[in-house]
Amino acid sequence: MKYFLTTPIYYVNAAPHIGHAYSTIVADAIKRFRQMKGDEVFLVTGTDEHGQHVERAVKDSGLTPQEFTDRIAAAWRAQWDELHLAYDSFIRTTSPQHHRTVQWLFDRCRQNGYVYKGQYTGQYCVNCELYVNDAGPGDPCPNCGRPTETVTEENFFFKLSAFEGKLLKLHEEHPEFIQPESRRNEVLSFLRSGLRDLSISRTSITWGIPVPGEPKHVFYVWFDALSAYMTGIGYGGDAQQVAQAEKLWPADLHLVGKEIVRFHAIYWPAFLMAAGLPLPKRIFAHGWLLFQEEKMSKSRGNIVRPSPIARVVGIEGLRYYLLRDIVFGQDGNFSYDALVTRYNSDLANGLGNLASRTLTMISKYCGGAIPDPGGSAEGDIARQGRETISQAAACFENFEFSRALEAVWALQAAVDKYIVENKPWALAERGDAEPKAQLGRVLYTAAEALRIAAALLYPVLPASAERIWQQLGQAGSPAQQRLNALAWGQLPAGQKIGKIEGVFPRLDKAEAIQKMQGLEEEAQKEQAALLGKKATPAPPAAAAVPAAADGKISIDDFARVDMRVGLVKSAERVKGADKLLHMMVDIGEPAPRSIVAGIALAYTPEQMVGRKVVIVANLQPRKLRGIESNGMIVAASLENGAPVLAGFLEDVPVGARLK
Ligand code: ME8
Ligand code: MG
Repeated sequence: MKYFLTTPIYYVNAAPHIGHAYSTIVADAIKRFRQMKGDEVFLVTGTDEHGQHVERAVKDSGLTPQEFTDRIAAAWRAQWDELHLAYDSFIRTTSPQHHRTVQWLFDRCRQNGYVYKGQYTGQYCVNCELYVNDAGPGDPCPNCGRPTETVTEENFFFKLSAFEGKLLKLHEEHPEFIQPESRRNEVLSFLRSGLRDLSISRTSITWGIPVPGEPKHVFYVWFDALSAYMTGIGYGGDAQQVAQAEKLWPADLHLVGKEIVRFHAIYWPAFLMAAGLPLPKRIFAHGWLLFQEEKMSKSRGNIVRPSPIARVVGIEGLRYYLLRDIVFGQDGNFSYDALVTRYNSDLANGLGNLASRTLTMISKYCGGAIPDPGGSAEGDIARQGRETISQAAACFENFEFSRALEAVWALQAAVDKYIVENKPWALAERGDAEPKAQLGRVLYTAAEALRIAAALLYPVLPASAERIWQQLGQAGSPAQQRLNALAWGQLPAGQKIGKIEGVFPRLDKAEAIQKMQGLEEEAQKEQAALLGKKATPAPPAAAAVPAAADGKISIDDFARVDMRVGLVKSAERVKGADKLLHMMVDIGEPAPRSIVAGIALAYTPEQMVGRKVVIVANLQPRKLRGIESNGMIVAASLENGAPVLAGFLEDVPVGARLK
């Protein structure tokens, strides 16, 4: 069967971070899983290069749009290549082929009577590229909370209202269409509140695909971007490409982040219905990777990039962490500490250790060949091995990656225990026949469990699974193993094992974290260069002050930072964020400041109340978990990441300035 899946088509206003890598890695893992099921899989990814915030990034860069988008799109593609992600098509929305697709889709919608010209005056969110119908001037965007802008435009409208009933029916009759369930409820309530027609062209910007015969109009970026799923498989191309597209259409799965559900679960099926095209089978909207308790995002700048991580824990260390630590569908916090902890416990000490132990014993005690399991009845491990195959496969099928991995690790734990209990090393020391047969049984069982684990882990750890597979003496790659043919007992006795090599070297945690953070800082600088001469780098916590070429700042630069002594009046934990404390701090102003700080693991609210602290008072306020944070508490950061608050030995009055 064919299986056509997509990632979002990412904006090129910045380079990718691990949130984007997350979606693309999941898509790659699903692709590999479907291939093991025997499907012919086609994976589309690409870059969304139009729209207002790309236009703004282009302006800031001082480059031409062509130069800028070429450069950034190439960086995205290079990132996926560096992570060995197996996309089949990388589509750029600036390509001529894609222009043809968009114009073609528009014509079909127009011919079928779903497009008209009208006028729009109202609020628009530039960040989300979204008209906010009920908002008044200055109201915030319901999606991202940023202020909306008032616009008046003559536009082409899409008769979205005509699809209200059909869309409701679609979502009611096909609960699997949008997953997880929580997202479906959101879509249904949006639909039930009524749909208005949607403006699908813009005259306020020029950076977009022109509407045929309407020189002032370019297409609305979402009409443009969603159509890229069509271009990605060949629409808009030559006859052969279109034939391929028709074979692959519709998508079996659109993988997206939860903030773009509305576009995929409402607008997109409506466009396709209007054009008379079959609808996608399923949309899965996953949760967000959070960093420092907020959504990791290009505009916030609180980002972590894939390459620095991959260089330290390996591509597969990153894949494993993302799929194992974060429950797919829910939000999950990224932490360097959790990443390295996972790597060491599950990969270095877990899988890697089990593989090298088992293989080394086979080499030492069995002459480097898989021993004979003997004729006696199969034991508990064989039973668990069989169960693990069906359990892991079912979990992958249901997008429950962390549960699939848990099942495989439970099998490994059982094998570890089995080895310890049966002591192959003691059996080997005794030369007589009975222990020898038992030794064969024990090591066969361990090796067979390892083969099954390698096969089941291939979707998530393709390169490592292949290495273990080959070290067991298996030919080729687990990629060629059909899942429905995977069964206990297929490892041939007598098969020579391969060269034994460690798969996951153990890491020193503090050193690994420091290395990743150092590389991340370099990556931030590279990114600034990539985005062009006028771009300011995404601010890491510190860089409010421009640094001279030698990294030093002037006294005036330092004077711009307003640091003052404050007294904590009240402190409480922030619900759902175990690191955050919300405090009211008196810094000598008429009213105390609301400040949220990531110190809750090191300080209790009781310890904080009545304590004097150092505050950076002129930081731009921001919201953390919906709470205003107007200032920052100064602390030393220990190697393990723990904060230690700055303070004074002498008593200092509240409001005193640090200079
Ligand atoms: O929305 N956690 O592009 P985009 C998890 N061009 N996933 C994240 C993430 C995070 N913190 N941040 C980003 C667009 N993503 C449009 C899409 S599709 C026709 C057009 C991932 O560059 C997630 O998949 O803002 C999210 O939906 C996508 O990147 C948004 O990328
Ligand atoms: Mg976005």
